[in-house]
Amino acid sequence: MDFAVYYDNQRKLIENFLETRMAKKGISKVDDAMAYSLLAGGKRIRPVLLMATAEALGKKGYNYLPVACGLEMIHTYSLIHDDLPCMDDDDYRRGRLTNHKVFGEAMAVLAGDGLLTLAFEVMLEQKNVESAVLIEVVREMAMCAGNYGMVGGQGLDLEAEGKEISAEELRKLHAGKTGALFIGAVRGGAHLAGATDEQLLALTKFADLLGLAFQITDDILDVEGDAEAMGKPVGSDAKNQKSTYVSLYSLEGAKALAAKTVDEALQCLEIFGDKADALREITKLMCNRKN
Ligand code: IPE
Ligand code: IPE
Ligand code: MG
Ligand code: MG
Ligand code: MG
Repeated sequence: MDFAVYYDNQRKLIENFLETRMAKKGISKVDDAMAYSLLAGGKRIRPVLLMATAEALGKKGYNYLPVACGLEMIHTYSLIHDDLPCMDDDDYRRGRLTNHKVFGEAMAVLAGDGLLTLAFEVMLEQKNVESAVLIEVVREMAMCAGNYGMVGGQGLDLEAEGKEISAEELRKLHAGKTGALFIGAVRGGAHLAGATDEQLLALTKFADLLGLAFQITDDILDVEGDAEAMGKPVGSDAKNQKSTYVSLYSLEGAKALAAKTVDEALQCLEIFGDKADALREITKLMCNRKN
């Protein structure tokens, strides 16, 4: 498989879906603020992951664009709020000024609210899936996004500012703020594609490890990455005295842990054979990425 071509094709499908869906306008300028951040590129790793998971189970990933893109809306909302002055207070995201820098704080809060809400409308527009399956997928997405998952993890992240926390606490924080949406992506794709219990178990473990490797690398890039390539600032974590894998384990320790986590994630895919090759390539990208 030529993974670069594969990823590019998946991203085009996602961009096209998001643009088309955002053409349906609401009643105010909140739409402009929502579109500004949503249509600013980004890796689209979560929707690509959802589609690649369905493919690992023999289904066509592009059939699940509504659920996949709904998840991307949830993720984008989390970024808009994460960048606010009351949170990480960052000025650049996805290569452009952050939402609040352009639209003001109040509008940026609403843009996040709008994307989170629209996400559920769009996910429920998914066709060709049994209602019971779709309900379970959307219920799990809500759990992954909310106080048991991403929002809960962001809460732990704030509580840990300026403190020394244990390895277990840091693991829990990362599993929430980043791991949960990866689990939502993978379990969403798995449920939609009719995974067995055994497959679901392996994929859930895989997603948890993948999310961890992704966030360890994010912590590393915040120290030694290139702001231009990333489209967001470096040094944000130090500025906010965040607890990160680099602050706890050092740069070298964090790199070793990311590589080990990627290996463990790959092992979870053994039962899926060749069909999981796209998932394997995504996994390898986790600790090799530059943005
Ligand atoms: C950034 O996510 C926030 C984290 C969870 C680390 P991404 O690195 O996926 O950001 P985009 O979507 O590519 O902009
Ligand atoms: C944020 O983690 C995760 C979420 C937005 C849920 P970070 O604060 O490290 O993300 P970046 O580095 O700003 O993208
Ligand atoms: Mg943050
Ligand atoms: Mg941040
Ligand atoms: Mg970061």
